[in-house]
Amino acid sequence: MTQPIIQIESITKRFPGVVALEDVSLSIAHGELHSICGENGAGKSTLMKLLSGVETSYEGSLSIKGTPVAFRRTRDAESAGISIIHQELNLVEELSAASNIFLGREKRGALGFINDRAMETAARELLEQLECTIDPRTLAGSLRVGDQQLLEIAKALSLKTDILIMDEPTSALTESEVERLYRVIDRLRRSGVTILYISHKMDEVFRLSDRITVLRDGKLVRTLSASETDAREVTHLMVGREIDTSRQDTNRSIGDVVLEAKSLSLPWPGHARAWRLQDISFRLRRGEILGLAGLMGAGRTELLECLFGAADETPQGQILVEGRAVRFSHPSEARRAGIAMVSEDRKRLGIFAELSVGENISICTLGKMTSAGFLRSRGEQTLVADTIDRLRVKTAGARAAITSLSGGNQQKTILGRWLLTEPKVLLLDDPTRGVDVGAKAELYRLMEQWAAEGMAIIVTSSELPELLTVSDRILVLSEGVITGEFSRQEATEQRIMEAATTQNVLQKSQEPPSQSHDD
Ligand SMILES: Nc1ncnc2c1ncn2[C@@H]1O[C@H](COP(=O)(O)OP(=O)(O)OP(=O)(O)O)[C@@H](O)[C@H]1O
Ligand SMILES: [Mg+2]
Repeated sequence: MTQPIIQIESITKRFPGVVALEDVSLSIAHGELHSICGENGAGKSTLMKLLSGVETSYEGSLSIKGTPVAFRRTRDAESAGISIIHQELNLVEELSAASNIFLGREKRGALGFINDRAMETAARELLEQLECTIDPRTLAGSLRVGDQQLLEIAKALSLKTDILIMDEPTSALTESEVERLYRVIDRLRRSGVTILYISHKMDEVFRLSDRITVLRDGKLVRTLSASETDAREVTHLMVGREIDTSRQDTNRSIGDVVLEAKSLSLPWPGHARAWRLQDISFRLRRGEILGLAGLMGAGRTELLECLFGAADETPQGQILVEGRAVRFSHPSEARRAGIAMVSEDRKRLGIFAELSVGENISICTLGKMTSAGFLRSRGEQTLVADTIDRLRVKTAGARAAITSLSGGNQQKTILGRWLLTEPKVLLLDDPTRGVDVGAKAELYRLMEQWAAEGMAIIVTSSELPELLTVSDRILVLSEGVITGEFSRQEATEQRIMEAATTQNVLQKSQEPPSQSHDD
């Protein structure tokens, strides 16, 4: 073998109470696409952070292109040709897309002033390479997660990068955006870029990789050539057991209507379409798991936000909870009515970064536990410990900082928080984003169990097969309107994709949709 582009030798990384990496040695060949697989908390992101100068203290050694390196900051890694796209997006929300791409490397004119025009032009070109059509002047914070992720990729491309690290880059992308990303990756590889790739999605790993390295509990289990292994073997190496993600059909009974939307519409001020959501009507019954399908931008998140009192605008139409009309102006009101929501963007709407794991779990139920008087703190501790246990959150303990948890484990923490509120209606916006195979199977099992106990669930997913697995019924949204409804028996990927790509027939209308919808 010719000299590897990256040589990792006997690397150990310790955090207080955790050994994140233990004696890991690995060499990466020039121009290969090497995937790193492992359960939540296995050490994947930590390894990538060492390679990109984010984590700077560790035991062992690192060589790039034959030269030993000890990066002190990300800038050092960038100079050595290494860029990383982080799992938790790292954008400055108050700055434009273009400014984010060139942050710290602003283009300047002769007098040293920042040249916005030049940055916008360069940004537009980069985004075009990604087949991304957002305006470079848009504020990063106002973009949906999918576009933000493409922005991060553009940022990495703007550096002269010959080693690109992608930590779960597709976790917020739809099928078509993933296809687009694959094309970008193919193009990068043809130009000789070495890629390190982290993903929990096996189809993706096998579609892209030359080789696969499996980590478990911080140790390197094995490196395999992709052509000589399969998803089953890799999964087995990751978790050390067989995983069954198929649905165990329980005999659940679907009960009374618990939530109803009548002609729900969400204004979209300043936008040509005028309506983000238009004339949405459906019913959700106790014990039912309703899947919400659609392409990115179809309005799935917005619909859930309307139901949770978290929409940017005031929705029109009616929402009924157990037959009573409600109007939520804030999520706390929805919560009191028995509605809980786990959002897709855990950084912005989910975690409280300055609090511990335990506080993040109990924050919505504190009131409930306070009323138990002196038992509060012990009761709280028990509930928190139970939650950590039940969801298998990998943490040093309830007192650990939430930010010390791996991405997937933060997601589980937020889920745990909402479960404690014992909601009647649970809204799950892409709940398995970044969650490992074992935890996914566990979540499917739990959803099934909660539904059997009478909870009603609405779930979205960026993975269609997953939606088909968990849902009793699927509603399809396209451009803000419902374009399809399928029972479990009728639903196929083909049918859903057809409905998801149906054009919004109402979209030209500037008038509010009819309010007289008695079905
Ligand atoms: N800054 C930190 N402080 C303390 N512990 C940390 C820190 N960063 C990571 N860890 C711990 O190191 C271990 C590995 O975490 P890492 O983020 O590398 O996992 P991962 O494989 O990327 O998981 P995921 O699939 O969930 O993203 C975990 O137990 C995590 O809690
Ligand atoms: Mg990670």
